[in-house]
Amino acid sequence: MNKKNYYITTPIYYPSAKPHVGTAYTTVLADVLARYKKLLGHNAFLTTGTDEHALKILNNAKKANKEPIEFVNDFVLVFKELWKELDINYDAFIRTTDKKHENVVKKVYEKLNEKNLLELKEWIGWYCPNCEENYAMNNIQKIGDQYFCTSKHQLVQKKEESLFFKLSNFTNWIKKLLFDEQPNLIYPKERKNELYNSFIKDGLEDLSISRISQDWGIEVLADVYKTNNKTHVAYVWIDALFSYLSALDYLQTNDNNFQQYWNNNNSEIIHLMSKEITRFHAIYWPIFLHNLNLRLPSKIIAHGWIVTPEGKMSKSLGNVIDPFDYINEYGSDALRFYLVKGLILENDSIFSKDRFIEIYNTYLANTFGNLASRTIAMINKYFNGIVPDVQRYNFYNSYYLSLTNVISDINLAIDENDFTKIVNIIIELNQVVNDLIEKEKPWTLFAEQKNEQLQELLHLLTNIVRITFYYLSPILTIASKEILSAYAIDIKQINQDNINNFRLINNLKTNPLRIIFKRINKN
Ligand code: MSP
Repeated sequence: MNKKNYYITTPIYYPSAKPHVGTAYTTVLADVLARYKKLLGHNAFLTTGTDEHALKILNNAKKANKEPIEFVNDFVLVFKELWKELDINYDAFIRTTDKKHENVVKKVYEKLNEKNLLELKEWIGWYCPNCEENYAMNNIQKIGDQYFCTSKHQLVQKKEESLFFKLSNFTNWIKKLLFDEQPNLIYPKERKNELYNSFIKDGLEDLSISRISQDWGIEVLADVYKTNNKTHVAYVWIDALFSYLSALDYLQTNDNNFQQYWNNNNSEIIHLMSKEITRFHAIYWPIFLHNLNLRLPSKIIAHGWIVTPEGKMSKSLGNVIDPFDYINEYGSDALRFYLVKGLILENDSIFSKDRFIEIYNTYLANTFGNLASRTIAMINKYFNGIVPDVQRYNFYNSYYLSLTNVISDINLAIDENDFTKIVNIIIELNQVVNDLIEKEKPWTLFAEQKNEQLQELLHLLTNIVRITFYYLSPILTIASKEILSAYAIDIKQINQDNINNFRLINNLKTNPLRIIFKRINKN
């Protein structure tokens, strides 16, 4: 196997409110992906964090009568608490208020300025304090004498001197990148055409990248540009995007992580997010990197939104789904599994409690839970809790051989970052098991004293349990371990070299197994 490095990121979230199930979604996907890459023996580095210099944060802090830094500190703790509860195994948590990040951003502005890519101009526009975005005239809506953005927030008009990045120089470059050089950069690919039609086709517009009216932010180019004695501060997107590099200690004396995970042709850089910020990652980000002679991302995975049966989540509708509620009631594995299996990555998906329960009962309680408990119950009953010693398969050799294909299909799906396929292959495998049990009727084999065949059947089933929970372990981080340890299998000992070594389970003595995924009754 060619051992690779994978750098996997979530967006850095605004710590202006508690995280909700949408933020949990991207973070769980990223964590699951990093764990799958590691399962195949690769190195993976997962970064998440918080985007703290937004105007929204300044405004909310004022409302809460707090200093902005105090205000964000409190929410950062809540984010970290959620990631802990969800068993997110991140390697770096970057805050845009971290000193090392501030240094990176300052340096980036200096380098772009040295390359003559910045220009001081007057920025006039409609600005949405809520979305942290400027809106072009053709994207705003007038109701009465007020103006609103596409998400129906009220806009304010603003005029100020600002540094602009000469994005318009790179229209052809980005077209070439997205259509010729890296046509598969964006997943799903429909998002590329949306971006093309909305932002690239008519030419990119220069991008305003600094503010002087706000002092909550990273001061940049203080020696070069000042207006009325005020220093420019970085305006959101450069600040936010470069967190992916500061998380890797870019420009630090010890930059080993940067060298291993970014500045290395044997590394893949995968950014996860939801669709509304694809533009920033797929257009601006590669252009900035290109101008700094840095490697470009390998993959941008832009999933759809989680919506509720009442529509988009919003505080005013009172339909914001709190991930803590689900974790407290059903456990982190159940929520992780629902996010991966119950939603469709490519589209917007409805998150509903009914569907959550349905997915839980169908797959966790029935399919996987049953396999785990049925097999162990039979080993206990027919073989006094000892997994039978089998040296070679006679009766079920073809089933055993087909496991090799299952393993290579899952591995391929992992290579392709295809979450749905990974889970579906494991589910299919378990359906085969159920059919096999119904067909072979181990209780009849026992009654008819077909001992050798029964030994082999339970050996095969135990091997399937081993494969199933090994491959589910990136999603069911807790249950997989617990189930396998009831079979006396230490998950840490399983790897790609021995996953198919069927004899490793011979003579193991089972331990008691509680019901891990108890059926949930609706109502
Ligand atoms: N700070 C910027 C991102 C900068 S990245 C360099 C930002 N922050 S955010 O707090 O608004 O988080 C947006 C991200 O949260 C989305 O891209 C997505 O990953 C996740 N989600 C937020 N709401 C969501 C849904 N309703 N559904 C799915 N994911 C959502 O944008």
